[in-house]
Amino acid sequence: MDVTISPSILNCDIANLASEIEKVRNADYAHVDVMDNHFVPNLSWGLPVVEAVIRQDILPVDAHLMIEDADRWAPAYAEVGCDSVTFHAEAAVAPIRLAREIRRQGAKVGMALRPATDITPYIDLLPEIDMLLVMTVEPGFGGQSFLKSMMPKIRRTRDAISAANLQVAVQVDGGINRETICLAAEAGANVFVAGSAVYKAEDAYSEVEALRQLAKTHC
Ligand code: DX5
Ligand code: ZN
Repeated sequence: MDVTISPSILNCDIANLASEIEKVRNADYAHVDVMDNHFVPNLSWGLPVVEAVIRQDILPVDAHLMIEDADRWAPAYAEVGCDSVTFHAEAAVAPIRLAREIRRQGAKVGMALRPATDITPYIDLLPEIDMLLVMTVEPGFGGQSFLKSMMPKIRRTRDAISAANLQVAVQVDGGINRETICLAAEAGANVFVAGSAVYKAEDAYSEVEALRQLAKTHC
């Protein structure tokens, strides 16, 4: 399975966004976390900053929207040119309509589940999306510890995708480092978001490569 590495820029040196993203130019995406202080108890940035990252044209943008009223706000992120737009299932009133709208705007669609949200009610929606994000921390902050208790959900999700013969990617986000990436890959994830592990490393570029190699071999 293809391995995708998507460094989260949430806790990078945001005064120097372009050079921070340049450091991880060997990654597949820049993961940009949008938070509204309602869906999660933190506020990051919105559309103008995402557009600025897109304009820099260093990496394609994987937008992770931790915002309420996703039906209203998510399509604009596709419209401005994000490669992939992920909304939270808990924040969408009409996830199928929203997924179709994001695709119509030309982006890939991701749907995210908070740790306490089960995949089972969403299994029939899998053909409508390109990626299912299993959060491996409570969304809102970087630097938290990986929740090993999410492994069964990753497995159930991967099994459901295989059973339906779909090509949906399984993303994990939160607490991914050289150890936990192995557990997540082994459980069936193939898209890995890493914030602190990459930006706190001495050399972010080498850390991206190291994580990619570990995920490929399942360690
Ligand atoms: C948390 C965000 C993550 C965060 C990951 O809610 O969605 O993308 O930046 O950071 P680490 O890798 O430090 O857990
Ligand atoms: Zn994220």
